[in-house]
Amino acid sequence: MSWQATGVVATTLAEGALRELLLDGRSVVLTRLGGSIVAFDGYCPHQGGLLVEGRLAAGRIVCPVHEAAFDPVSGEVRADPFGTEPPAGGVAPLPTFRVRLAGGSVEVELPEPPR
Ligand code: FES
Repeated sequence: MSWQATGVVATTLAEGALRELLLDGRSVVLTRLGGSIVAFDGYCPHQGGLLVEGRLAAGRIVCPVHEAAFDPVSGEVRADPFGTEPPAGGVAPLPTFRVRLAGGSVEVELPEPPR
């Protein structure tokens, strides 16, 4: 694991707004939920839908392709593809990442890339 600077000033992240970044070759989406900044993988674990194009509602990030839904903090699956609830294992959890502030800017802890 390593902390990556994002260059994003924390105060510029609006509640519920989705911002995609490329960090160390990986797509990461930042947002603010309930005042806290959260970070999650930019690609849906189902078939790679772009989650920055999804919608954030009722504490879930919903994939724009087949409507799987995830908890953006824990990555837990809230709905399988095609909105199937309760989820029954149709998709893997969404990777999420720890966030910290350094001098008012956001840093994200990412796993080491595969070698
Ligand atoms: S690609 Fe996201 S639900 Fe299918």
